[in-house]
Order: sequence, then structure tokens, then C-alpha cells
Amino acid sequence: MFTRGKFNRLTRNEYIPEIIIIISILIIIHVCNTYYEYTGNQYILIDKNDLNEVCQLYPSTLLGGKEEIIMSEHIEWSDNPNVQKGGIYSPNDCKSREDLAIIIPFRNRQYHLKLLLKYLHPFLQRQKRSYQIFVVEQIGNITFNKGAIMNIAFQEALKIRSSFGCFIFHDVDLLPENDYNVYECDPKTPRHLSPAVDELRYVLMYNHLVGGVLALNKEQFIKVNGWSNLYWGWGAEDDDMAERIRNSSYYLSRPPNFIGRYKMIRHEKRERAVNRYELLNNWRRYLSDGIKQLDLLSYTITSVHKENLYTHILVNLTRSSTDRLEHSIE
Ligand SMILES: *[C@@H]1O[C@H](CO)[C@@H](O)[C@H](O)[C@H]1NC(C)=O
Ligand SMILES: *[C@@H]1O[C@H](CO)[C@@H](O)[C@H](O)[C@H]1NC(C)=O
Ligand SMILES: *[C@@H]1O[C@H](CO)[C@@H](O)[C@H](O)[C@H]1NC(C)=O
Repeated sequence: MFTRGKFNRLTRNEYIPEIIIIISILIIIHVCNTYYEYTGNQYILIDKNDLNEVCQLYPSTLLGGKEEIIMSEHIEWSDNPNVQKGGIYSPNDCKSREDLAIIIPFRNRQYHLKLLLKYLHPFLQRQKRSYQIFVVEQIGNITFNKGAIMNIAFQEALKIRSSFGCFIFHDVDLLPENDYNVYECDPKTPRHLSPAVDELRYVLMYNHLVGGVLALNKEQFIKVNGWSNLYWGWGAEDDDMAERIRNSSYYLSRPPNFIGRYKMIRHEKRERAVNRYELLNNWRRYLSDGIKQLDLLSYTITSVHKENLYTHILVNLTRSSTDRLEHSIE
């Protein structure tokens, strides 16, 4: 009797107003979500630490973008008397918040590195971060595998100091302009620190961009399984990382554009990853290709050397280094 009555109501279209209301609500939720995705995830980090002796997230030493960046053609290695050999620094007037490893993948760009370190050390010291800068370089002249050498640097950094809690992967050709862009991990989610680059008119090009400067804490990096080891050439490992982050149920957070500003010092065109599109469709294999599979790569650490302003990790990784990993996936 009851079910029949219900059926009759349906046939008389009495549910249509309710259906329209439900559909409208769904559409509104969808529009709000989309809007949130594009705007709501740009926020400044809030200092939740109320212990007195711990360094403030925004100490009074910050300049807030008032420092002038001079890009002269001829630049020498600049001294930084506060930095210990290996590019290590810790503030001495407050208790440091967390140990930060800055990882700079590098290749043949001495000029960029000199310029970046000239500004990055004082920048981080004004922020009172406790940090070590690692420059990881792939030996020789073969195609670059940025993802793999960043994974290797992550692992080597933890061998050197197991207390590293936050990892910032930093392109060598981006200079931060505003020290309110604190180099600290967002405990909630991976944080893309470089949304606004001068060459891209200081606007975020697309919402899933993670290239440039990306901060993940140790737990987040392991959950996304690090970077893919299988992209040879520039660029595509970033888009792959964006998918890893999304698939791990994280969303990207970012500083607002007026804080997350960078100057780009790139000149030449780069060799794009040859197998780019093929691999991008395969990002779903991310659980079987990443930091957890590093032992399937045949590479050697040629040297780990403490230079004055950074720790230099030199890696011998050749095209055949990834063969075993590739076969394990097929
Ligand atoms: C590496 O390749 C570049 C351009 O292809 C060349 O200019 C440079 O001399 C090479 N370096 C070595 C060490 O072979
Ligand atoms: C992540 O990818 C896997 C494999 O494609 C899929 O089963 C899973 O539902 C995805 N998770 C999320 C949160 O997108
Ligand atoms: C790098 O490793 C390969 C093989 O694994 C070896 O043939 C080559 O000589 C190494 N290169 C250097 C510079 O050590």
C-alpha cells in the first residue's frame, strides 16, 4: 500500500521541486569548492607556538620585501660569517622551531647558485630558521633526472641529520623577494611557496602548479612517495608531483601572491622530458615509483662534501640506473 502510494507520487512528478532544490545545492557546493580551490588555499601560516623561548614565526628581523635584489652579471661567492661549513645555521637567541633541509637540484649553473646563496642565507637568517642547504648534482652531461636526485638528496640529508622535519625543494634560479614568505612546512598539507614569479607576471599560472619551491614535511613526503624517479629531462616531475599530492588527499597550500613573490634568473631553454606525456598518464603507478623504491635504482654517491655555503652531494646516476625499477613496474 505504502510503496504503491510513493510510486504514485513519483509518477505525478511531485518530487520535482525537491529534486531541483537538491541539484541546486549540489551545484552551489561545486561552485564554492572550485572557488575555494582557486583562492582559499592561499594563506599565511599562523604561529601556533606560544612557548616564549621558541623562535617566532615572524620575528622582528624580517624586512618584508624591502631588500633590493641586484642581479649583476659578475658575481663572486659572498661571505656569510654566520654560516657554518656545509651551509648550516641555527639561531642563537631563540630555540629553533624545526630542522629544515633545503634541497637544490643543480647542474652547470654556477652563476645561479652564487646569486641564490647570496640572498637565501640572509633571508633564512632573518627568519631565524635552523637549516642546512644541500646542493645535489648529477655527474656528467647526460639528461637530468631531477626527481631521482631530489629523492636521493632527501635520503642523504636524513642520514646526515635524522632530525630534519621539513624539506624544501628549491629551484636554483628562483630568488625569494619577501621574507614574510616563511620557509616552514605547513603541518596540514604540502605548501607551494612560489605562486608569483616575475616572469609569469606574478600570478599563479594554474592551480596544480608545484614547480619552483615546494615544502613538504617528512611525513607528507613519505605519504606521497616522494618524486617519480622516471622522468629524464626538465619539467614533468612537477606535474607528476601535483598528482601525487592530490591522490594522497592533500590540497596544496600557498602564501598569497603578494608574499610568495620570486625573481627568476633563467635564461636558456631547457630540454623537456622526452617521455613526458607517456609517463604523465601513468602517474597512478606512483606507489611503485618513488622514495620507497630508491633501492631499485643503481646509482652511487660520488661524494658528500661540505663547501663554505652548502653541502654538495654529487650523484652518479646514468640512464641505465632506472632499468631495474622500470622492469619492476612493467
Ligand atoms: C656538456 O654539454 C654542453 C652542451 O651540450 C657542452 O657545452 C659542455 O662542454 C659539455 N660538458 C662536458 C663536461 O662534456
Ligand atoms: C589514488 O589513486 C588510486 C589508484 O588509481 C585510486 O584507487 C585512489 O582512489 C586514488 N585516491 C584518491 C584520493 O584520489
Ligand atoms: C658512473 O657510473 C658508471 C656505471 O655505473 C660508470 O661506468 C662511470 O664511470 C661512473 N662515472 C663516474 C664519473 O664515476
